[in-house]
Amino acid sequence: MTAFSVRPMHIEDLPQAVEIEREAFPTQWPPTPFKRELDNKMAHYLVAWQEGHRWEAPPRRGVPLLLSRIGHMLGWGRLRARHDHNDQPFIVGVVGFWLLYDEVHITTIAVRVNHRRLGLGEMLLHASIEMAVALRARVVTLEVRATNSGAQALYQKYGLHQAGVRRGYYTDNNEDALIMTTDSLESASFREGFQRLKQNLIKRMHAAPSSENWPLS
Ligand SMILES: CC(C)(COP(=O)(O)OP(=O)(O)OC[C@H]1O[C@@H](n2cnc3c(N)ncnc32)[C@H](O)[C@@H]1OP(=O)(O)O)[C@@H](O)C(=O)NCCC(=O)NCCS
Repeated sequence: MTAFSVRPMHIEDLPQAVEIEREAFPTQWPPTPFKRELDNKMAHYLVAWQEGHRWEAPPRRGVPLLLSRIGHMLGWGRLRARHDHNDQPFIVGVVGFWLLYDEVHITTIAVRVNHRRLGLGEMLLHASIEMAVALRARVVTLEVRATNSGAQALYQKYGLHQAGVRRGYYTDNNEDALIMTTDSLESASFREGFQRLKQNLIKRMHAAPSSENWPLS
């Protein structure tokens, strides 16, 4: 069985975080400045990674396609990837949030296309909410495209509901953003629902965050 875990993002994860974000939000500008964000005291970034899998970096830009193919056949790509990125674990998803006073605001969440619908987005959202509770945040909020029904379904599952609309928020196509928010993280109803979801998620993933790789459990 494939095992996935969640942990804080490291600087070595940045090339994969950029890759995942580009794939998920091809029109987003500017991209998330992950490097700067890792030094931002208000920001928190987590990654989901696949145990036992290593990342194979794509060929460097500027290398002609034919040369890169020949190099790959001869094993140069692997050697270069190992040299450049030190044989990194395979990152399958990313989530980021800011703690602003008593609110946790999720700024980005994305899972590699080939790894969607496996519970990984849920794992990342779940870990963010657990961290929000540990950081004594009152609520979790975010913005989501009005047409992004898949992401909205994920958020609704975790008790986020629509609290408002920002008209024309997304500049690439002038799409509205729905503002979604949880009830108080301290309310009994939220806690009960969250515990239930946690049990289901543990059963589903067989690799719930453990004390070894998840500092807040
Ligand atoms: C949104 C996203 C992170 C979800 O990640 P995921 O790993 O595919 O989602 P999960 O497998 O954890 O799904 C958990 C729950 O979310 C809901 N869900 C997720 N994707 C869904 C979809 N395409 N359609 C309907 N429901 C969906 C379901 O309720 C699902 O629960 P279930 O498995 O019991 O049915 C992923 O689709 C993604 O990266 N999208 C592109 C980036 C993006 O849009 N990010 C959100 C920006 S606000």
